Amino acid sequence: MLSLEPYKGTRDFYPQDQFIQNYIFGIWKKVAESYGFSEYHASILEETELYKAKSGEEIVNEQTYSFTDRGGREVTIRPEMTPTVARMVAQKRKELTFPLRWYSIPNLFRYERPQRGRLREHWQLNCDIFGVDSLEADVEIISLAYDIMKAFGATDEQFEIRLNSRKLLNATARIHKLSSDQEYHLTKLLDKSDKMSAEDFSAKLVEIAGSRDKAKELDKLIRTTSLAELSHEFQNDEGIKQLTMVYQRLLSKGVANVKFKYTLARGLDYYTGTVFELYDTDSKNPRALFGGGRYDDLVGIFGVEKVSGIGFGWGDVTTRDFLETHHLLPEYRPPVRLYVAHLDNYIEAANQLATELRRQGLNVAVDLTGRKVSQQVKTADRDKIPYVLVVGEEEVKTGKFKVKNLVKSTETEVERQNLADLLK
Ligand code: HAM
Repeated sequence: MLSLEPYKGTRDFYPQDQFIQNYIFGIWKKVAESYGFSEYHASILEETELYKAKSGEEIVNEQTYSFTDRGGREVTIRPEMTPTVARMVAQKRKELTFPLRWYSIPNLFRYERPQRGRLREHWQLNCDIFGVDSLEADVEIISLAYDIMKAFGATDEQFEIRLNSRKLLNATARIHKLSSDQEYHLTKLLDKSDKMSAEDFSAKLVEIAGSRDKAKELDKLIRTTSLAELSHEFQNDEGIKQLTMVYQRLLSKGVANVKFKYTLARGLDYYTGTVFELYDTDSKNPRALFGGGRYDDLVGIFGVEKVSGIGFGWGDVTTRDFLETHHLLPEYRPPVRLYVAHLDNYIEAANQLATELRRQGLNVAVDLTGRKVSQQVKTADRDKIPYVLVVGEEEVKTGKFKVKNLVKSTETEVERQNLADLLK
């Protein structure tokens, strides 16, 4: 027997699911474009090398769908969009006018254990700015994300934006004399710290630090929640100054729910500065809605001059969970505006009317079953179509139609030429 289930960790989108998906994409597009972002797109297939260069071991070794094609090339189905967009920017860097504000909504594939908020295929809004070294881009990209949450109808209490900088981790390594290998492992440990027990975390920290004393010092630092305190500790380190500036600029722009978090490291290897993630404050949804950061060296890996980048990836799975949890999903409405029911022998007249109305920009469906009129109307109601009318001898003769509004349970009689106006 063939299975009826979709492939593990992927979803079928029935019309009601697609409606929600379109709603999410619609808000993403609208707000991204309101900030001047332009849409781009690319193939789901890339050469595997692309991800080996910078994404990080976990994604490449454990999470990619990779195969060898018939020509012997190593190919990967994209697990994220950032390497692709960096490649595209590197390729056309001479023709492009910087800065760039680009967005895309790709589907991505990661071989993960499916669970709440994590699947094997998800869609992700990617917004990235290229060619701006100053912190203005950091402030703008986080403000954009905040405005998307507002467009979804979320209140400040329902989510929290966590902020850190890879530069703070660099400063930690410098001051506490950690090798680059130790710094790398510390970053990975911090990235996983929320999902570990306190004992496991401490044991790992000692292992990385090389001694209990050093681990203790680091542990104290990691628990610091005040940027001012850290700034003092790190004697005005440039990275911390920058982080403080981004933080304060966001607060002054009204992004009140941004919080500094030392343990926010982000799992991907390419980040070089500001990093951020957004969390639902409801513990039912413990996974980030989006994550991103600054990556100033990624375009450079293609052997071309450096172009700085900053952006985020925002997942559809966690977004839908968030909207459901906070009752922010819109009610389902099909694209059809009018259902044309008809009596026996009047399907041609019904089709004529539908054609007229379609030419005036309306979405119209004509009943194709020839069932009893009452059943035709019931079909429209079940499908949540807002309007229905019946075409029969009387209507054809008089040119007047009784339009039923199925949402409000009202009926209006209208002349043929006024139908479109009423229904729009
Ligand atoms: P990421 O943290 O791997 O970053 O993913 C970003 C977001 O995508 C997550 O916060 C989550 O909402 C969603 N997501 C990731 N994996 C899954 C999954 N298996 N199932 C469902 N949702 C998922 C990146 O991908 C970076 N490339 C983002 C970026 C863009 N950085 C700079 N520009």
